[in-house]
Amino acid sequence: MDRLHCALSQALKELSAVEDLRFADAFRNFVAKMERSFRQEEAWLEETQCPSLLMHLEEHARALSALHHLHSRIMAGGISEGREVVQYVLPHWLAFHITTMDFAMTNSRDHADTYGGPNAFLTEESDSNVLH
Ligand SMILES: [Fe+2]
Repeated sequence: MDRLHCALSQALKELSAVEDLRFADAFRNFVAKMERSFRQEEAWLEETQCPSLLMHLEEHARALSALHHLHSRIMAGGISEGREVVQYVLPHWLAFHITTMDFAMTNSRDHADTYGGPNAFLTEESDSNVLH
């Protein structure tokens, strides 16, 4: 997980340094890298049946949707908007996402490893007929 985050962080830094003429292509490559990273996370989420699976998937989808829309504006000449998002918005979004959704996923994985696999997320109450 940390490797994925470091790779995205490094890719953001590299994208910031790209000259304007190459920015649209570099941004497209960055979005593709984010998609691959998200797919890896999503495979882990599904494997562990993480309780926050749907919220996490939704957050990934919203982010990718926003980035694809931004890419179309960048291709139409919105380089400065793209740079602003790369410099200010994405680092904060990634930090927030990592400390909330990804952290919860990591905790779920650790919990599953310790307590018996993906089905460990089922509480004792849900396994029995105990009403809440
Ligand atoms: Fe995530």
